[in-house]
Amino acid sequence: MGAEFYQFFLNTKILFQPGISGDFTNELSQLKIGSWLLVTDPFFAQNGVADKIRAGIEAGGYKVTGVFSEVPPNSELKVVQSCIELAKQGGAEAIVALGGGSAIDTAKAANIVLSLGGDLVEDYSGTQTIPRALNPLIAIPTTAGTGSEVTSSAVIFDEGTQRKLSFNDAYLRPSLALLDPELTLSLPPKATAMTGMDALTHSIESYTSVQTNPMSDALAMKAIKMIHLNLLKAVERGSDLEARSEMLIAANLAGIAFDQAMVGIVHAMSHATGGIAHVPHGMANSIYLPYGMEYNLAVRTERYAGIAKRLGVDTTKLDTMGAARAAIQAVRELRASLKRLCGLPDRLRDAGVQEGQLEEIARTAVEDGASFFNPREVVYEEVLGKIREAY
Ligand SMILES: [Fe+2]
Repeated sequence: MGAEFYQFFLNTKILFQPGISGDFTNELSQLKIGSWLLVTDPFFAQNGVADKIRAGIEAGGYKVTGVFSEVPPNSELKVVQSCIELAKQGGAEAIVALGGGSAIDTAKAANIVLSLGGDLVEDYSGTQTIPRALNPLIAIPTTAGTGSEVTSSAVIFDEGTQRKLSFNDAYLRPSLALLDPELTLSLPPKATAMTGMDALTHSIESYTSVQTNPMSDALAMKAIKMIHLNLLKAVERGSDLEARSEMLIAANLAGIAFDQAMVGIVHAMSHATGGIAHVPHGMANSIYLPYGMEYNLAVRTERYAGIAKRLGVDTTKLDTMGAARAAIQAVRELRASLKRLCGLPDRLRDAGVQEGQLEEIARTAVEDGASFFNPREVVYEEVLGKIREAY
């Protein structure tokens, strides 16, 4: 049976063009904001990219009140607070975020308080807590992975409680996403591989979740094919602008897909492993992806068979189950190629996880929000079994 009900809503304008981040005055003139704060990480502040974007904004006659360049790999509440303070000090009306998921999430969280006032954690953590539209936010991703430039969520680490805080609301989606593949050319092979596997996981999990819809399905399937055709090229030859472009677009499509359809057990295990053993998100997803697919194989056989084709498998002589298994095998082969090309680990033990942590990871994964969208109930003993296999 087809869909009985679904809704699809995207309040982000998306613009793709090589070099677009250096000149988008046309877009700025429509947003009617006079002064901007640029939020980024130390890498882009030092390598000249932030300066180029700043110059582009100023050339259009708009003011850049400052550059906040202290975003760490996993942003924290105190970082968001200093970002808000810098924005207020300089009188910035709105924010341009440049970077990976952490920089964009920092900007999203800061923008809540900048727009509405109040206390970030007390008033706005959780789901659907934002009462009205926020100030415009421009997101310029520098990795092809998280899709944060189009998602309605932000994750910030609370150093006090040692837990990740999440913010989920349609108003958190940036107003404008600028996709400039030139910014991803300098991303090292391993980071390219990890973030690309995060995007692949977004597409596969959103295509097989309990909340799929025809729109997210179409986006996810297109993304899987683009990642299959371009991830290894982008890892092997970082300067390949075409492969970088395709990966950036694929990550964006996958971001829209999973923001609507959600993710599942792979992300649940990855979130737990990131929190407990500090394994980077994309690396953990890459390790867990085939195991999560095996967990769901019996209830998503046809969907995996469809994925197999997008992963380049010739399914003409295979039955549905054979094709579904071939999709999992194709993911394993992709991981093997990435391990060979850039040393991306394919086992937890090679990613710094201790055997004594596996039970806690399994317990935490069962409770993770992503588990509730998985097509099969996430049961402790079974998920522990998969985690042990991945170890
Ligand atoms: Fe992810």
